[in-house]
Amino acid sequence: MMKEETTLEFVQQMMRAYQGLRLYPAQHPNIRRQLQEWQQTLQLLFQDAPRILIGIHQQTLYCNDELFSDSASASEALMKILEECHLQTVAFCQGVSERELLDFLVITANGSGSAAALRQAFGEASIRNIELVKFTEDEDFEEKPASEVYQQALQVTESIFKDVRMGKIPSSEEASQVVKGLVETTLSDPHALLALSLIKDYDDYTFTHSVNVSVIALAVGRACGLNKEELRVLGIGGLLHDLGKLKIDIGIINKPGRLTSNEFDAIKQHPLLGANILREMQQVPEAVVEMGLCHHLRYDQSGYPESEKDRALLPMTHMVTIADAYDAMTTLRPYQRPLTPRRALQHLQEQEGVLYHPQILKTFIEDLGPYPVGSLIRLQDNRIALVVKVGLQEGEVLQLKVLFDEEGRQLPTPELTELSMSELWFIVAEVDPLGKGIQVTDYL
Ligand SMILES: [Fe+2]
Repeated sequence: MMKEETTLEFVQQMMRAYQGLRLYPAQHPNIRRQLQEWQQTLQLLFQDAPRILIGIHQQTLYCNDELFSDSASASEALMKILEECHLQTVAFCQGVSERELLDFLVITANGSGSAAALRQAFGEASIRNIELVKFTEDEDFEEKPASEVYQQALQVTESIFKDVRMGKIPSSEEASQVVKGLVETTLSDPHALLALSLIKDYDDYTFTHSVNVSVIALAVGRACGLNKEELRVLGIGGLLHDLGKLKIDIGIINKPGRLTSNEFDAIKQHPLLGANILREMQQVPEAVVEMGLCHHLRYDQSGYPESEKDRALLPMTHMVTIADAYDAMTTLRPYQRPLTPRRALQHLQEQEGVLYHPQILKTFIEDLGPYPVGSLIRLQDNRIALVVKVGLQEGEVLQLKVLFDEEGRQLPTPELTELSMSELWFIVAEVDPLGKGIQVTDYL
């Protein structure tokens, strides 16, 4: 079958499945058969592209690069459904299951109140392999590049920290605005902010760390299937988890090397101090207070504060704990060489089920893939490359920037290349960027 015919078939089958749902209950064998056929056609299309986009452009239905300008009834009816859901573009991604297709049809068949409602329904149904790419009325949110969103988060955090240092109770308004942006970016490009979190500015450690914990926690939360509302709470929790540190002598916080037991006792106060500030802030959910209070408690409750032991922690708190540890491990400190992302994950894994929640950690590690964004690797032919993007679906690729050629010469301009997941054997080792005199974040 020609590609255009397959695309047409895909659109018609989608429409037939909607019609089928009007006649039969979702569990009916006829519906199952329609879904199977639809999925088979999808598989054919996935041979050419890992994502199948369907949407409306200038009043015309399109699928990938095919426009359905002749007003065939299937395309008109489909446009109507998309419009009623305020959907401009939706993407079916490789790995999409029959269950997800069915949930998608059921959720979208009767339109949706708003973009937010549709996102929420998707979150609740854990639809991971169908993406709501673009809405016609886009949720009071204008898409910005990840770096801009990240910079803005840094600025807002700095001003919140200033307030706290001066003894003021900061407003949560700005934090929640900026986290909205972080959530949107995390959902539309899951690892983009994570890559930026590898940029560590030592002078500004406290607030860089706070933004990073927020960003990493959001990556964990997204991988674990949290919906948008939950992600917003999680993001605020990550951003504000360490406010209490601002109340501790900066000399102790920044002290290189070992702390005396008195100094450590002082540090151990920061969750309680932070929770007190959070409780005084307006419109801060209780979950955010818990993240501030309990992010050092650990999965096995071996941490602090003592007063909170035996408390059943929220999954979000475990996410912040993991994000906090991951960021600390990958950061250069006066007394610590940073670990590469892959090494940091291995470290975390050694404490899986001890310090860190086992399922949450597993899900995060799987989501980052064997060579997370920011990993510098040696290929079998001796070239050295940086992982700049990791495909999140089965069969997707690793995008690499080759920095050194086979002879070990640094390339004047890095070359982009890709490895499919089945070609991972081509990677022979991870390379320490410090040893190569490379600042990986210059290339991300
Ligand atoms: Fe902390």
